[in-house]
Amino acid sequence: MAPDGALAYREWDRVDVDPRAVDEFPRKMTALVEQHRPSRMPFFRRVAALPFAIASDPDFLGQVHLVYQSAMHATRAAVYYLPHLDSPAMRKRKLQIFIDDDGLKGGDTHHYQLTRAFQNIGANIQLGDEDFGSHDELCRHLDPETGHFVRLAQKLYARSLGPWCAVEILSVDWMQALAEAFSVHFPQFIHEPYFEECFSQHVEERHAQESLNVTHMVMQERPELLPETMRDAKMMAEALDGVWNNLDRLVQTARRRTRRL
Ligand SMILES: [Fe+2]
Repeated sequence: MAPDGALAYREWDRVDVDPRAVDEFPRKMTALVEQHRPSRMPFFRRVAALPFAIASDPDFLGQVHLVYQSAMHATRAAVYYLPHLDSPAMRKRKLQIFIDDDGLKGGDTHHYQLTRAFQNIGANIQLGDEDFGSHDELCRHLDPETGHFVRLAQKLYARSLGPWCAVEILSVDWMQALAEAFSVHFPQFIHEPYFEECFSQHVEERHAQESLNVTHMVMQERPELLPETMRDAKMMAEALDGVWNNLDRLVQTARRRTRRL
């Protein structure tokens, strides 16, 4: 006979989820995440409206790079720990996502492309590419809100597939918004490979669809995972709002500093 604890665990594992909820998963997940569209946040329009002298300040650009690259790094590193995708067919699909980030032509990566994009507009890079390592270590260089996002990505990506869906669904929106905001000041910015390759090959649209498809398949097999998947997606999307809020604070601090000079 199973000990009480084990029995209770199995009971919990069989939590009934209405099959219609699983059918509606892609629509529900998209609707949940869409409430957190990054482009609605003030950071992007405030960057576009900055005087050029502030927008081109190397230290300001270096701070923006550190926060944005850290958030991206946290998700790129965490995607290697996604659960429930261990069959050969699922591993192949996961591998394609890894390749899109870390297996670019000539040994290039999305991380390196992003740093070059900021270097090319004069950013004073604060943290070297290879110093982006463990989540915990990275947090020592970050403000609390970005640190919260970084830690949450590490924890939640390994627990359920919801956070991955949230980030992939939203990424094309923030990449477009970021490229457009800085291109007001640096017209070549949007043509950097980090953006242009992604936009022309519809990489993020593909990731959004793939994360939804793969997660939907897992939910059909294991409907009991649905509540946690949705809850974790919401937590990740809320934490992402915090990253844009923090970037917005950098913009406002830069403005105030310049007014005082
Ligand atoms: Fe992606």
